[in-house]
Amino acid sequence: MNANVQSFFHAATSAWTHLVSDPATRAAAVIDPVLDFDLSSGQVRHDSAYGVLDAARGQGLRIDWILETHAHADHLTAAQWMREALAAQGARAAIGIGAGIVTVQRHFRRVFALEEELAADGSQFDRLLADGEQFRIGSLQVRVLATPGHTPDGLSYLVGDAVFVGDTLFAPRLGTARCDFPGGDAATLYRSIQRLYALPDETRIFLCHDYPAAGDEPECVTTVAAQKSGNAQLRADTSEADYVAFRTRRDATLAVPRLLYAALQVNIRAGALPPADAEGRRLLRLPVTLD
Ligand SMILES: [Fe+2]
Repeated sequence: MNANVQSFFHAATSAWTHLVSDPATRAAAVIDPVLDFDLSSGQVRHDSAYGVLDAARGQGLRIDWILETHAHADHLTAAQWMREALAAQGARAAIGIGAGIVTVQRHFRRVFALEEELAADGSQFDRLLADGEQFRIGSLQVRVLATPGHTPDGLSYLVGDAVFVGDTLFAPRLGTARCDFPGGDAATLYRSIQRLYALPDETRIFLCHDYPAAGDEPECVTTVAAQKSGNAQLRADTSEADYVAFRTRRDATLAVPRLLYAALQVNIRAGALPPADAEGRRLLRLPVTLD
């Protein structure tokens, strides 16, 4: 049986959250939930994550898993908040992420001078997932495909005829993820995408982002066949050398994502905000560089 998938678009960060459920048992997983964070004011809200929980409740779903495709640089994850909100209702959901998060933590705790405060061992998450691992959402079998290249911890989750690919691939018209973040590598992403292209042509590919033109609806799903024949940057016949040359040239032109420092600081803690001090103040750090 195939998974039911309901997708939620977070317009402020152009990010998709997917609610994946098993029609037979009503068990479910939330993939890549998003916190509403306003960088100018520092205000955190939970409207988007509430929306996902409400939808799950409305369908009588039990959320067993909160899954990250990678440590995101463009939005703050709502994983921690969601786990606590579910716990307050007596439900227990586990946060899963790729085992490569440890590499991301090691790098960024140094960037933020958090060596004393943050263990770089993935212990903030409930389950560190490695390539080939399998687990269940009710009666649905999930297979983990390590798909690094954008980040070292990139994972895709294969559930029946659906695969949730994080930032490896965007919609065909947009191409692929950037590979210039710490631990990113274009040749590695090329090989990860070859693994996705080896899946059956009709496999549904659920995306992590879309950036629609004004007036257009965002796309959340495409297929392996559509990507292989029409991806703007990497089709079935694109060579690794051509892709790496293109990606390297393109990445040199890209700006740092607006929320990068806020996002990584929170996302390497599985979505926990920095701890409050005695007066309840929570502060994010911003590394400053001089020419
Ligand atoms: Fe990303």
